[in-house]
Amino acid sequence: MKILVLNGPNLNLLGTREPEIYGYETLADIETEMNACATQLADDIEIEFLQSNSEAELITWIGATRGKYDGIIINPAALTHTSLGLYDALKAVADAVPAVEVHLSNTHAREEIRHKSLTAPACIGQLMGFQGFGYTLALRALVKKLSD
Ligand code: DQA
Repeated sequence: MKILVLNGPNLNLLGTREPEIYGYETLADIETEMNACATQLADDIEIEFLQSNSEAELITWIGATRGKYDGIIINPAALTHTSLGLYDALKAVADAVPAVEVHLSNTHAREEIRHKSLTAPACIGQLMGFQGFGYTLALRALVKKLSD
């Protein structure tokens, strides 16, 4: 089982970026935890972990997942609230590569502009508010769904 984990703009700054909101874990810490979780879940789960500040790059990566990956975990970051292009890309592969959306913070408890996700309707589920731990929760949920 191959899972692509995508992280959007500014998530490369995790660890020092508003830690009271996003926590002190870096993206590298989260990747390590996800790999440990994957090993626990099964011996055939492979995770590829990517981050980009570019909407175009994220769209290109999603569009290339068909036939290569079994699922996507995505934190689109600020693009969650703005990107019809990311929604379209997720929709375009959703029949073959289901996605789970994850957010470190509870966006519903923040500014109103963060309450709406354009990308979530293209995903099978969404997890938010558990900081870095949410990524492994999303992995568990996606693997369960793919195994059912
Ligand atoms: C975020 C929430 C977004 O509103 C914000 O723009 C981010 C991070 C989160 O993980 O909590 O960059 O996606």
